[in-house]
Parts: sequence; structure tokens; C-alpha cells
Amino acid sequence: MGQTGGVTHDHITRAGYQQVPDEAGGRASRTWWDENARDYLDEHGDFLGTADFCWCPEGLREGDAHLLGPAQSLRRSRILEIGSGAAQCGRWLTAQGAQVVSTDVSAGMLRESRRIDAAEGTHVPVLQVDARRLPFADQSFDTAFTAYGAIPFVPDAAAVHAEVARVLRPGGRWVFSVTHPIRWAFPDDPSDRGLTATRSYFDRRPYAERDADGSVTYAEYHRTVGDHVREVVAAGLELIDIIEPEWPEGHEQAWGGWSPVRGRLIPGTAIFSTRRPQRATDEDRRLRPDR
Ligand SMILES: C[S@@+](CC[C@H](N)C(=O)[O-])C[C@H]1O[C@@H](n2cnc3c(N)ncnc32)[C@H](O)[C@@H]1O
Repeated sequence: MGQTGGVTHDHITRAGYQQVPDEAGGRASRTWWDENARDYLDEHGDFLGTADFCWCPEGLREGDAHLLGPAQSLRRSRILEIGSGAAQCGRWLTAQGAQVVSTDVSAGMLRESRRIDAAEGTHVPVLQVDARRLPFADQSFDTAFTAYGAIPFVPDAAAVHAEVARVLRPGGRWVFSVTHPIRWAFPDDPSDRGLTATRSYFDRRPYAERDADGSVTYAEYHRTVGDHVREVVAAGLELIDIIEPEWPEGHEQAWGGWSPVRGRLIPGTAIFSTRRPQRATDEDRRLRPDR
């Protein structure tokens, strides 16, 4: 089981923390999400809803947290969703009056989004896009976000941050949730067996799975808190906050390795809130003299 997918993976011959070639890892994630889109929705669809904005297995909702800004600021705001899956968040934002484009690298996931739209009579514009190469003009969005999309599945998250920084207007926010980095030191087990650290937090090898031929079929990448911070800063973004949602009282539903047992003791999610500076800093001008 991966740290994020929370879906049982079949036909694995070798799974574990291991080096994988970057290209094979990035490619595997796309194929894996294509093949497992329906299973992911079958397993987590009830929890996620069809038009709800849930940041994480702890159940933090944007309607309560306002990490993208006050509710009234969403109206007519141009918002980019990255790694949207079936675009439940994008559908919720559309209902708030935002102008949303939801993007995902997986055609299978976007098919699920269109299936929900057809069933619900809703419409979220979706595009098949690799978050590392965004097909949008500079400064074309007010806000960008992802709930657990793209970042954990690419070897080069710095490329995602750089692209998001490019398409955001000055002052625009980029907010992304990921598995809390501390979780990588613990077994991905929802029971109390998942409460004893068994590996080094500093071991950056991805969790990967291979099939009988040795081909990489799944890859998920670990970054420490410091790695994430350095990557967003290198993209010229400012870090506003790191939110670590607490496991709420009365929330008993597990999601893969996220469970009440572990959630009450250690964080399961980190949400990085960042922003493109209003004005280019000296460092920004040095890194990107063209801006
Ligand atoms: C854990 S799912 C999260 C989906 C959705 N945000 C949600 O909350 O249900 C991760 C998503 O990231 C997408 N993804 C993986 N690599 C990506 C990439 N390079 N570019 C864009 N999306 C990617 C997957 O296809 C998948 O839909």
C-alpha cells in the first residue's frame, strides 16, 4: 500500500523504499492512476463527496479553513486545480462562483470527473496536464492548489512549483497538501504498529513497486519539511504557513494508513501555504532575470 493512494496494490513483485530512475517513476504514477482511478473513487468517493473540498484524510474542509482566502474572495477568482483527480474540489469552488480549471495527468481520473458531472448535472472544465509543464500563460491565475495531487508522485516537484509560480499573478497563492513528511519514518499501517518509527526520516528513497519484469508500476516520493520549504523558496515563492490538521474528535474513518489511532498522536498531513510575492525580490530577479 502506498503512503497516499490508500488503495491496495495488486500484482506487485517487489515493493519498498528503493531507487528508481526519475523518468520511470514519473511515468509509472501516470499509468497507475489511470488504471486505479475507479478503485480510488470506489474506496474514497463517499468520503470525498462529489462537490466538496476536502484537504486531507483528517477531513479539513476549505469551507471551514479558508486557506485559499475568505469565502467572498473566491467569487470570480481564477483558480487552477493541480492533480485534481475527479475534481470534487473544483466542483465545490465552481459552486462558490470561482472560475476553475481542474487539471490532472491521468485521463482515467478526468473520465471519473466527467462521469460525476454527467450524473450530477454539474460542469467543471478539466484538462489533461502534467503539473510540471502547465499549458497556461504567465500570470493567468489568482490562486492554485492541490489536495494531495502531483507533488508526491513526481521526482522533480521543484518543476511543479516553478510552473505554478509562473502562471500565478503577483500576490497569488499556491496551497498544496501532502502526506506529512514525518509519516515516512513509520510503517504505513493504521494500527498501533504504525506508531513505531522503523526507518530514517532522512532516507529520501521513494516508495516504489515493480511488476514481474522489474518495471516500475508505482512511485511515491518523500521530501522532508526542509526539502519542501527549499523547493518553494527556490521557485521564488514566499512561505506563509505550514498547516498540520489535527485528527478531529469523533472522526473514526480510516484512509489507508491514516486512522484515529495514529492521527491522535502524530500528524498525517502537511498543507503548505505559499504565495508569489507582490514584487520581485532581489533574489527572485537574480534567479529569473526575465521577470
Ligand atoms: C491522491 S490523488 C488526489 C486526487 C484529488 N486531488 C483528491 O483529493 O482526491 C493524486 C492525483 O495526482 C495526480 N497526478 C500524479 N502525477 C501527476 C502529475 N505529474 N501532474 C498532474 N497530476 C498528477 C494523479 O493522477 C491523481 O489524480
